[in-house]
Amino acid sequence: MGFNPLNERGMPLEKQLRNWSELNVIPYDKNTVDPYTQCRVITLNGAEVEGVFFSHQFARHCDDMEVKRQLAMVRRIEQQQQKAVNWLIPGDASPLERTIGYEQVAVDLTAYLARMEPDPYLKQAFEFGLLEDFDHLYRYADLMDLLEGKKAERITQHLTEIMPGRPTKAEHRHPYDDLRKPMNTRLGHPLSSLHVLTLVAAEQQTMNFYMNVGNIPTHPLARGLYLEIAQIEEQHVTHYESLMDPTTSWFEQEVLHQYNEVYLYYSFMQEETDPRIKRIWEMHLDMEVEHLYLACEMLKRYEDKDPAEFLPQTLPEPVRFESNKEYIRQVLANQVNLTADGTDFLPVDVLPKVHRYYEYQAAVNSGGVVPSERVIQEYVKAKGQDYRDQVQGPHPVKEFQSRQMVPPELVSSGRR
Ligand SMILES: [Fe+2]
Ligand SMILES: [Fe+2]
Ligand SMILES: [Fe+2]
Ligand SMILES: [Fe+2]
Repeated sequence: MGFNPLNERGMPLEKQLRNWSELNVIPYDKNTVDPYTQCRVITLNGAEVEGVFFSHQFARHCDDMEVKRQLAMVRRIEQQQQKAVNWLIPGDASPLERTIGYEQVAVDLTAYLARMEPDPYLKQAFEFGLLEDFDHLYRYADLMDLLEGKKAERITQHLTEIMPGRPTKAEHRHPYDDLRKPMNTRLGHPLSSLHVLTLVAAEQQTMNFYMNVGNIPTHPLARGLYLEIAQIEEQHVTHYESLMDPTTSWFEQEVLHQYNEVYLYYSFMQEETDPRIKRIWEMHLDMEVEHLYLACEMLKRYEDKDPAEFLPQTLPEPVRFESNKEYIRQVLANQVNLTADGTDFLPVDVLPKVHRYYEYQAAVNSGGVVPSERVIQEYVKAKGQDYRDQVQGPHPVKEFQSRQMVPPELVSSGRR
């Protein structure tokens, strides 16, 4: 039988505080780390950061001192967990090297969740985002080799291919076209709420990361690429958060957050190849089970609601980091030319020429070559062809097969 965390108690809250040396963990070695261990670290850091910010927002909208005290206590622990997780990343990993890790997460986490997602609209939304982060990985990889002489495949280890996706330049949409139809937590599959929350956390952390590290480089090309892609991550947060059920209460959302943290630590603990890091996931799982218990008690007490009504009976199949190359190639071949019109996805060339998409594009893409194209242009100028890691052969989209030029912005529909 599966594990039902709703029937469990975890580590008592008063035992969860750790001292500075326990939190100041020894970082992994960037040259030998399993790429998917790095992906798990980045994902769990994102989940903890989301947990912390959600808890702050909850507290700001709450006038009950007892609730605020419990939120403050649990939040302090979430902050400690965030430190123990994020401090696993070594100081000698440059912002660009970390960025490659972030985009590898965006690609393989989104692809895996899309494959597992039972709801067709959500699956489509995940695949839509997937192709955009896939392109970011390519642009950053070229930038890193150009500026730092480092190949991204040393980080991704050929588990994730590096080649053009939906061109970043074409991703700039009017804000109205990044809003999606919200799901319903009670009517939908319980797995869907967890998938959406995980992606919101991951994309939000990527957005925050670029907001902060994007101004660290001195080279204008790097500063330009970070700011351009940072704006897409804003779009991605808008896209994924608008899928969340807006009718769930603060207390229900707190339960969902804690449940999802349990689910992620439980998943990654089983997958973890580094025994020392696995022990951290196990310890954090033990803590999260107790956070979940406390959140459920609050939901029952303040709203008289039963968390079992919207949560799975047992923890679903673990979330896995694994290679999704064939799947991604299929999505590329079929969906690279999609854009959004309101909450719907459709080929960009069927949009009327007066659509707000073109107005937005004209506003942000004017003023010279956009940074995401400039990077490839400069790379081709310097080295004769772009940098890619195409493990499975030529690019599945014919227009993107030439490596001596910037991939064209628009690919017409109707031929695949
Ligand atoms: Fe946590
Ligand atoms: Fe991205
Ligand atoms: Fe993204
Ligand atoms: Fe937690």
